[in-house]
Amino acid sequence: MKYSTQRIAYLFFATSMLLLTLQIIYGFIMGFAHMGYDGLHSVIPFNAARATHTNLLVMWLLSGFMGAAYYIIPEEAERELMWPKLAIVQWAALVITGVTAIIGFHLNWWEGRKFLEIPRGLDFLVVVDVLMFIFNIAATIWRGKRITTTSSVLFFGLLAAALLYLPGMITFDSQVLDSYFRWWVVHLWVEGVWELIMGAILSYLLIKMTGVDREIVEKWLYIIVGVTFLSGILGTGHHYYYIGTPKYWLMIGGIFSALEPLAFLGMAFYAIGMARKGGRQHPNKIALTWTLGCAVMSFVGAGFLGFAHTLPAVNMWTHGTLVTAMHGHLAFWGAYAMLIFAMIAYALPEMTGRAIYKGRLAEISFWTSNIGMVAMTGAFAVAGVAQVYMERMSGMDFLAVQEAIEVHFLGLVLAATLFSVGIVAFIVDFVRYGKPQPVDGGAAVTV
Ligand code: HEM
Ligand code: HEM
Ligand SMILES: [Fe+2]
Repeated sequence: MKYSTQRIAYLFFATSMLLLTLQIIYGFIMGFAHMGYDGLHSVIPFNAARATHTNLLVMWLLSGFMGAAYYIIPEEAERELMWPKLAIVQWAALVITGVTAIIGFHLNWWEGRKFLEIPRGLDFLVVVDVLMFIFNIAATIWRGKRITTTSSVLFFGLLAAALLYLPGMITFDSQVLDSYFRWWVVHLWVEGVWELIMGAILSYLLIKMTGVDREIVEKWLYIIVGVTFLSGILGTGHHYYYIGTPKYWLMIGGIFSALEPLAFLGMAFYAIGMARKGGRQHPNKIALTWTLGCAVMSFVGAGFLGFAHTLPAVNMWTHGTLVTAMHGHLAFWGAYAMLIFAMIAYALPEMTGRAIYKGRLAEISFWTSNIGMVAMTGAFAVAGVAQVYMERMSGMDFLAVQEAIEVHFLGLVLAATLFSVGIVAFIVDFVRYGKPQPVDGGAAVTV
């Protein structure tokens, strides 16, 4: 670590770990509810648990992206972060907004729009928070010694993510229009601009750990950005099939979304290719493992399992079933959760000066969490396919089907327990690293 202000990232990473822990607890509450053990129903009904689970996910990923940006940008721009105190205020504002939203969900203060449940009043706080973040990052890049492709792609990814939050804040009387614009946020985030953030963070990590020249690593970044936009923008159509939008979306959505896996496949080839090309043996092997794991698992979860239900003829049966949850888990885990884990695994030793990555716990964490998540995906898949056949194809009653598939949630909870062991191992290492150390010669920052 070169710049003292990079240490601010630690606050965001620690917040991510805390929110992830809470997210998992809510996952278990739902897992047991699906098995028929819904003892907490009067305090935490399923809808509140679900909104909390998914919003905590989005929050800890955003906190991780912000931490990654605060860590990467000073190094890329070759200067300290412009306003470190503002970054700390921004962190506090993020936590306050998030906590208010989560408490609100439990008091039935929410909007029933999947992933955008945060009430619009609170949305304005989110906007102010993100503006503080974007200004700080932009000013640091602008006043820095150099503007690299990696920092530009990261910045535009973050800026576009902030702008795309706005269509979700418009109020419509029409359910169709509301749904139409909701996807501008949800789809264009995970299958568009977040991929830019992902490409940029992967590029940074590959430059640092493989020893391959920046020019070569960054050249491929342009191609990935191109393929992402070409497929992802019109790929939004795979959410417009049967929601009241014109019929041409069946064809447009089908064709373009079917091309989306190429961007993730490109990302996997890119990461593996650079790692093979690199001669230098970076000592932090586990950080490189998370980096490559992210590139590969994002293809499996987002690309392969996304393709599995993206064609209109399939989606008309699978829409909104547990098949979606199957894909949602592995896609989010592979692409974005593992990305944050890779970033933390790389940055923590740099920030603290300790080399805990040499221990076995780090490896155990990688394999246990990944095997656990793949098994969870399998449990959702079996439950989802059974649900499609019974409920949609045979016309059985919704609740009768839910009862019939309860057994698969035992599998889910067992797999989730294995997954959680891996996460606990990661967090134990996180705590063992301790606080970031000061940088010689850098301005001291109270973190
Ligand atoms: C990292 C990238 C991705 C993530 C994190 C992700 C995550 C998700 C999530 C959480 C949902 C449920 C959304 C909701 O109902 O509100 C969803 C739906 C969907 N995803 Fe993805 N996805 C990704 C990439 C892809 C790709 C590349 C494809 C296609 C090739 C795809 C195809 C679909 C389809 C068709 C649906 C709609 C399912 C339904 O009708 O219920 N996804 N995705
Ligand atoms: C480890 C414990 C976990 C358990 C037991 C669990 C379980 C569940 C359950 C039961 C649902 C609701 C499915 C339904 O609608 O009926 C759900 C939703 C969801 N979970 Fe988890 N989860 C866990 C961890 C995670 C993690 C780590 C991620 C992300 C990396 C994640 C991402 C999601 C997403 C995106 C949804 C919404 C899916 C959709 O829109 O269909 N979960 N989870
Ligand atoms: Fe999508």
